[in-house]
Amino acid sequence: LRSAMAEERPLAMVTCTAPVNIAVIKYWGKRDNDLILPINSSLSVTLHQDQLKTTTTAATSRDFTADRLWLNGEEVDVEHPRLRACLQEVRRLARKRRDGGAEDAAPLNLSYKIHVATENNFPTAAGLASSAAGYACLVSVLAWLYGVEGELSEVARRGSGSACRSMLGGFVQWQRGERPDGRDSIAQQVAPETHWPELRILVLVVSGEKKQVGSTAGMQSSVDTSPLLKHRAEVVVPERLALMMRHIRERDFEGFGQLTMQDSNQFHATCLDTFPPIFYLNDLSRHIIALAHRFNAHHGCTKVAYTFDAGPNAVIFTLADTVAEFVEVVRCSFPPTTNGDQFVQGLPVGSAALPEELLAAVVMEPVPGAVRYILHTKPGPGPQVVDEPSQHLLGADGLPRCRA
Ligand code: DP6
Repeated sequence: LRSAMAEERPLAMVTCTAPVNIAVIKYWGKRDNDLILPINSSLSVTLHQDQLKTTTTAATSRDFTADRLWLNGEEVDVEHPRLRACLQEVRRLARKRRDGGAEDAAPLNLSYKIHVATENNFPTAAGLASSAAGYACLVSVLAWLYGVEGELSEVARRGSGSACRSMLGGFVQWQRGERPDGRDSIAQQVAPETHWPELRILVLVVSGEKKQVGSTAGMQSSVDTSPLLKHRAEVVVPERLALMMRHIRERDFEGFGQLTMQDSNQFHATCLDTFPPIFYLNDLSRHIIALAHRFNAHHGCTKVAYTFDAGPNAVIFTLADTVAEFVEVVRCSFPPTTNGDQFVQGLPVGSAALPEELLAAVVMEPVPGAVRYILHTKPGPGPQVVDEPSQHLLGADGLPRCRA
């Protein structure tokens, strides 16, 4: 029945979703720019797609005359080299599978053009790493479309380094690998998303971002000029990775939180050590860092851990029993000026009354409006196929649907 339908239907279509991930041991620096091979291994937590996800639909048909791609409804250039690399690699794997004689392999004609539509359920302007989820989603959807299985993180890596970690759920390591061809530079799950049920993530989306140096250019400049980055990659990260894996295995928040903050700080130190220096942290980031340390000092242990990537948003790791209190601390420190009712989004947050001594010790010089909103989420699974045809982003004509 399946193949009969495939023959009758001019259009084959698949939709997938993929998650965002946040590194706790950072990737910064490539040893091969074309293959996107890193100078050090990294480790991340995959965030739940109920709060943050990319959705991508891919279709192929003999009627299509060109490969086309729509991003949030706008058509974009498909000649982007990283996009081409991903597409080429999936098609190569499909061809290999077909030529290898797999029975169900490549039911589709690989020379047909494809149409791809992709969108995020969060504003791209929020500055949340969307390229990782985007490339993970693209590679997943193409793999499903062409019936390719197996090691796909290697393909996602060709889109964006951090994207390879979004190919798996839970706690994920990207192994730097040794081979010049990158075949061993892949993502591996360290623990599934169910491993640490109390772990929570708060994304503090900040206001007034300005243009900054992108990751790709920034890390290249760091590789070229920072002696600290070289030391970090050779000496510090290998030690930290082993330690971080142990903290995760043992669900040791004290160890996990400390190391997460230290590794974020060292990444930003390598940015300052880059010449000319790169600054991703700003006054508000430093304010949030100081706040987290005062909060932990007040409690006498690590209750919250911050991490910052190549942008101004802060990501806070904490445990479920601390969320309500810390959210209240953030609300008092950065009183919302508009949309006070939408200040907290995502998973529900209980209410907490802050004890006087906590307020006095932790909340200093409030900065109204500096944090736009807080997104509450938790670890989640890897890419998913969407079975519901009504969720396709492309219509039966292979063009983006007008969505209500
Ligand atoms: C600071 O994966 O965006 O977020 O490989 O050039 O596409 P390219 O870079 P990208 O870099 C992410 C850097 C980071 C740290 C991390 O996610 O590990």
